[in-house]
Amino acid sequence: MFVFDPYSPEMDSNPFPAYETLREQYPCMWSEQARMWILSRYDDIANAVQDWQTYSSAKGNMMDELPGRTGFTLGSTDPPRHDRLRALIMGAFTKKSLEYLAEPARKLARQTIDEFAPKRTFDFVTDFSSRVTVGTLFLMMGLPDEDHTTVRRRVLLMIQSDKATRQKGPEHIEAFQTLVDYVRGQVAKRRLAPKDDLITKLIESEIDGDRLAENEIVMTSMTLIMAGVESLSSFMSMMALNMHDFPDARRKVIANPELMAPAIEESLRYNTSAQRFRRVLMRDVELHGQRMRAGDFVCLCYGSGNRDPRKFPNPDVYDVERRPQGHLGFGGGKHLCLGTAMARLVTETAMREFFARIPEYGLTIDKLNWTSSTTFRSPTSLPFAIQ
Ligand code: HEM
Repeated sequence: MFVFDPYSPEMDSNPFPAYETLREQYPCMWSEQARMWILSRYDDIANAVQDWQTYSSAKGNMMDELPGRTGFTLGSTDPPRHDRLRALIMGAFTKKSLEYLAEPARKLARQTIDEFAPKRTFDFVTDFSSRVTVGTLFLMMGLPDEDHTTVRRRVLLMIQSDKATRQKGPEHIEAFQTLVDYVRGQVAKRRLAPKDDLITKLIESEIDGDRLAENEIVMTSMTLIMAGVESLSSFMSMMALNMHDFPDARRKVIANPELMAPAIEESLRYNTSAQRFRRVLMRDVELHGQRMRAGDFVCLCYGSGNRDPRKFPNPDVYDVERRPQGHLGFGGGKHLCLGTAMARLVTETAMREFFARIPEYGLTIDKLNWTSSTTFRSPTSLPFAIQ
């Protein structure tokens, strides 16, 4: 009997064999362990993200939700509330409005490489990806540099779940609440003394007299911190790992830097850091002979849809020239990742600097450790030696 358990360690380290079984044999499966339906085929997921009236985000989009987020963030609201929130925020996330981040991201990448390159060994996660992404995000949000480590530690805790009880444990909830208090404090400081940063922009943003409420500002800032600290940093690490595992692809990109942008899209398809999100059903739905009921939770397995051979031929091949149209690495529909332009910009800038200095590198351990999360996927560390 096939069991799909997003809490099992195999799902952190290598979910792809289970995804294949799901797609081929159980495309709409009730998971007793996750207590939700699992959709794994590309077309079913792509259809669900478009049909937000049926597949609602109003009860949260993380596989294990955190208390207090639902209803206040983009990812946990439906239109019209979602559209209103998104309109008030999206101005800060267009490609044009993010250009100012390219130079600082480049500088940060150079600085960090200068620090570790002479040692000839380094940890890509702690020495590079997290420092560049958290540094860029902090600059954008106007957060103090000295808070990097504690904020990152709390984010990494709050995205995890207790494997034994299959839900958030007290330590995960406490990390989340401590971070909420921290962000609330930062918002209060900006109210007294506005700065030229994103938190101040959220406080001041206004359309036709409409403004964000206090909790919306705090929870939106929390989402941005979580995305910048976890999704972006993990994605960059995953891309470095793909390029390690497929040295010919890496050499192709280094020889032809024009391929960096398509390589980023292929990495998002092949191995996205944001693997699984959930929705709640607003009506009964019949799919592949199963009857899902209104009120049931449904998991959209983006990481599986991205490996569906019905959509992407030879899906297990990492091909930096594939240019995978419509991949689900950033989700889709109304909830398409707000940070797409930022993620692409920071990743491209940092990885160009990285490959210019470190074209050849190898893992110094045989077995990787993976973050324990039902939503995200990332190695906890990537110890590399420069070759
Ligand atoms: C490569 C890095 C990233 C990946 C793989 C990623 C992935 C995703 C995915 C899959 C979703 C859809 C969630 C759902 O369907 O419920 C999403 C939503 C979102 N992401 Fe990202 N993300 C990344 C980086 C970022 C960054 C850097 C930011 C901002 C700082 C960001 C902000 C958001 C927000 C606010 C949403 C909610 C959008 C909405 O519901 O309207 N993301 N992201």
